[in-house]
Amino acid sequence: MADRVLCAVVVGNSDGIGLAFTRRLLADGWRVAGLSRRENGINVPTYAHHTVDVTAPDYPEMLGKAVDELGQVDLCVYAAGIGEPVDLADLDAQTRTFEVNLMGAARTVATVVPRMVAAGDGHFIGLSSLADRLVSAEAPGYAGSKAGLSSYLMGLSAALRGQGVSVTTVRFGFVDTKMAKGPVRPMMISADRAVEILSSCVRNRPVVVSRPRRMALLTSALAALTRLRPR
Ligand SMILES: NC(=O)c1ccc[n+]([C@@H]2O[C@H](COP(=O)([O-])OP(=O)(O)OC[C@H]3O[C@@H](n4cnc5c(N)ncnc54)[C@H](OP(=O)(O)O)[C@@H]3O)[C@@H](O)[C@H]2O)c1
Repeated sequence: MADRVLCAVVVGNSDGIGLAFTRRLLADGWRVAGLSRRENGINVPTYAHHTVDVTAPDYPEMLGKAVDELGQVDLCVYAAGIGEPVDLADLDAQTRTFEVNLMGAARTVATVVPRMVAAGDGHFIGLSSLADRLVSAEAPGYAGSKAGLSSYLMGLSAALRGQGVSVTTVRFGFVDTKMAKGPVRPMMISADRAVEILSSCVRNRPVVVSRPRRMALLTSALAALTRLRPR
């Protein structure tokens, strides 16, 4: 890797995994630009925060400016995400879940990846979920948005082969943040463990990482069973 300060953009870093990973990157000597609707209280010279909603029309422009200020983008992590239980009388929250989890990620890719291709180097990490294979009656928008996100990022990873640019799809089970608020959270990992996994992704640039492994196996089995079940 080049003998210069590495630069990262983290989208969705006022809380949870994005915030914990931003702190790790800064501790490791990276310069970081972060974007989310709220501030995150980080106040060091190597960090700049931009308050923005990824569904806002001017989001791609603001992201582009944040990258230009940074000078280069070696790494972009898309950690913005929401998950809402279904309400059949009002499906707007499901629509919004697609806008944040899928379209926000796609707009981020469209702003950042062409810059990486032009530079001949870069790494995009998207936080998807083990729910990407599930048919969920409880949160169909969440599972559907993550299915779309994983498929898009894996396709992009293949399309970018030979360009010097890597795309990693990270599929977590339950991680101990405010998002994992349900009463049942089997095999939940800590935000610190999630950060360790992301750090290893930065070093190794895998195409897909699914953790915890045992939860990934269980989810695959559940997905297969759900599809076999007669309607
Ligand atoms: N926690 C889990 O169990 C788990 C499991 C699998 C996958 N994941 C995925 O990991 C990612 C991070 O989740 P988390 O657990 O860290 O959640 P979290 O603690 O709720 O944090 C979500 C982050 O996304 C940002 N965000 C949400 N809507 C946004 C919007 N419209 N515009 C800009 N930023 C927005 C939030 O910032 P603002 O509110 O300030 O905008 C916040 O910083 C998500 O994609 C999630 O689906 C989480």
